[in-house]
Amino acid sequence: MKIFLDTANINEIKEGLALGVVDGVTTNPSLAAKEKRPFRPLVEEICALVPGDVSLEVVATDLEGMVKEGEELAQIGPNVVIKCPLTKDGLKAVKYLTGKGHRVNQTLCFSATQALLSAKAGAYYISPFLGRLDDIGAIGMDLIRDITEIYRVQGFKTQVLAASIRNPLHVIDAAKAGAHVVTLPFSVLEQLMKHPLTDIGLKKFLDDWAKSGAKI
Ligand code: G3P
Repeated sequence: MKIFLDTANINEIKEGLALGVVDGVTTNPSLAAKEKRPFRPLVEEICALVPGDVSLEVVATDLEGMVKEGEELAQIGPNVVIKCPLTKDGLKAVKYLTGKGHRVNQTLCFSATQALLSAKAGAYYISPFLGRLDDIGAIGMDLIRDITEIYRVQGFKTQVLAASIRNPLHVIDAAKAGAHVVTLPFSVLEQLMKHPLTDIGLKKFLDDWAKSGAKI
């Protein structure tokens, strides 16, 4: 399973890449707006930094606009994956852009039927939002399980990119459900590597070592 960072923050991306466990980046209009920088140079910097896939989202809602913006974004680099929302025009955009040789991440997926149509249209990634489903009292992970099963049984090549991840348990469950990718806020990536027993154990090792007076 690949790990992507869900951020448009350059420092977080640099730190994640330095850890050696980050395979790519996903952004969205909210994350980009948070950076308070002109969009184009920001995403050019991200695409140059990240060796793996970088999802950049269109903001147009009509087919023509999505295609125009998507094609502009794709020119930024070979690692760009165009992100289109899962609407009627968004599905048409997947079909069109995929036909032109682009890769599309279809975002804002909240149902298995949406995911089925997106795969049929040729999406490269499908992004089910599990945290936002949990927020309304649904079980987001059930959607990840349904989609991975449908894609497996039906032989679709579309990769399941579990998005709207809020905690480490989401990561474990998405991995068990067979998601191809999880995209994480930097705070969740930090949580994944932490364990209080590691900190306690390290302190004890170093205290014992210091008391012994030994040297390496
Ligand atoms: O980038 C899409 C998704 O990961 C957003 O997550 O936390 O805003 O629901 P969130």
